[in-house]
Amino acid sequence: MCGIIGYIGASKAIPIVYSGLASLEYRGYDSAGIAYFLNDDIKVIKEKGKLINLKEKLNFDTDTFLAIGHTRWATHGEASITNAHPHSVGKFTVVHNGIIENYSTLKEELKMRGYTFKSETDTEVIPALLDYYYKDEQDILKTINKVSKKLIGSFALGIICRDDANAIYALKNSSPLIIAKSKTGNFLASDVPAILKYTNKYILLDDGDMAKITKDTITIYDTNLNTVNKETLTFTGSKKTAEKNGYEHFMLKEINEQDKVFKDTIGSYFDGTINSLEKNFGFLKNFKKINIVACGSAYHTGVIAKHLIEEYANILVYTEVASEYRYQKNFYDEDTLVILVSQSGETADTLAALRKAKNDGIKTLAIVNVLGSSVARESDYCIYTKAGIEVSVATTKAYLSQLTVFSLITMYLGYINKVIKKDELESIFKDIKKMPKLIKEEINNYQEYYNIADKISKNKQIFFIGRGLDYANSLEGSLKLKEISYINSVAYQAGELKHGTISLIEASTPVIAIATNKDLVDKTISNIKETKARGAFVIYESFIEPVDKFYDEFIKIPEVHPILESILTIIPLQLLAYKVAKNNNCDIDKPRNLAKSVTVE
Ligand code: G6P
Repeated sequence: MCGIIGYIGASKAIPIVYSGLASLEYRGYDSAGIAYFLNDDIKVIKEKGKLINLKEKLNFDTDTFLAIGHTRWATHGEASITNAHPHSVGKFTVVHNGIIENYSTLKEELKMRGYTFKSETDTEVIPALLDYYYKDEQDILKTINKVSKKLIGSFALGIICRDDANAIYALKNSSPLIIAKSKTGNFLASDVPAILKYTNKYILLDDGDMAKITKDTITIYDTNLNTVNKETLTFTGSKKTAEKNGYEHFMLKEINEQDKVFKDTIGSYFDGTINSLEKNFGFLKNFKKINIVACGSAYHTGVIAKHLIEEYANILVYTEVASEYRYQKNFYDEDTLVILVSQSGETADTLAALRKAKNDGIKTLAIVNVLGSSVARESDYCIYTKAGIEVSVATTKAYLSQLTVFSLITMYLGYINKVIKKDELESIFKDIKKMPKLIKEEINNYQEYYNIADKISKNKQIFFIGRGLDYANSLEGSLKLKEISYINSVAYQAGELKHGTISLIEASTPVIAIATNKDLVDKTISNIKETKARGAFVIYESFIEPVDKFYDEFIKIPEVHPILESILTIIPLQLLAYKVAKNNNCDIDKPRNLAKSVTVE
């Protein structure tokens, strides 16, 4: 959600900043802009819509060696050229990721001081404040420091000032911001993919940090303007993780990486022995209750984990979406562990839920993909998922890696709580070994799911049904489909359908029914038959071969232990959603209105 990039160095800046913006496209945006120094003045070029529109207005050959760029996901004011960043007032030009919560008050104050505003954005108050305080301070750093204390909300800022053609300034609070040094120049960026072409070394700024970046130097300051040293981190993944590698879409590439992601995630915490689980998950013993809090697909892994941990480890689990959890009354105590699940580790609601729990003295565990992200850093414990960089807005491999971590957690807690006995544990170990091959086989089986997709692509609505764990699986199957294909899709508890929703089933309405729970399969089949009797086009997903043919299509998946089964359940549904979206010519990697990293409330 909004991407920032800044470059200063020996190379021409516009192509570098433009390609940085292209690698941040995945965050979601609807307008973009660049500001650069030319002949001691700042030029700003902005455009609505995709980056390609901006490209047409840019001259890549311009003799400028300092530029900042921005992709904007509209919050305050429509997607338009005027509302697009960078925003300039007086001598200052800024790009901003986040939300200034007190912008209306600040705007009124600034209006009284004679400022006028062109845009509807919250951001425009920032250059206006900088301009106002600079008149007295006449020192850029001191001015930024002063302004930082006036702003309430989240902000990652790239700032340039007409009086200093040799530096980009940065300020961070709540929204992510990294700084990087390369052989040809220095950077600031919202995320690692933007700099990977030039360097894999970067520094994470902390809240309150300011930075001055010149061609040769990077200086970081704390809130008292004292210089601070920060650890330089190294991105260890392949540069190729941020490229399509011949696949038509990032989503397809990421689906295809899932066997490796499973192996990498398992391999980081489990070496085939219970000792390795004890070493990595031993701290879980201290808790009697678990709350899982997350958003979107990450929340769905929490719903699955609730079923698994309650069933196999006898521990009470409460799962809630973060935007609700952060404002509701929470019945937690010192025996409760709050688990935050997040790919980005920067989701505003998840971060707020974490801070709430911490504030109440409750212990927290982060299950996060992005190294050093805010949720990872602020939690008491952290388990990294090993999905690598995920670019497609619709998550696939990160979701699978979160499920993988929950499988390990369930296995460990189940064993120490004596629900999973030694024999069962050993059979799970065997299944874990088989999983990469089974995942690969499913992926290679894509044509079968594509054929089914071709039969439902023109429908206006598609239902997913299941009971228990299969309902939890349905939630993600349904979200994957609707977010990228724009076909209305609802996940329903199979037994609940008859209490209202069944009235929506008519001739040829697709119903995707998941049945992997042996104890409940007959009940689910009865519910499927109820839809079939009303003309539904039934797609049945299971490893349980039915005796009678009550379905139109059968997605047969391999059978493994239930704590691993959800991983094999989702892959056909990811590929099905992908093909439906492709058939409907949708923008698969960047679905309309969505952002990958949702850093606003
Ligand atoms: C957005 C994305 C989803 C993601 C959710 C949570 O809505 O589009 O794919 O599941 O945020 O993101 P997180 O980074 O916290 O996992």
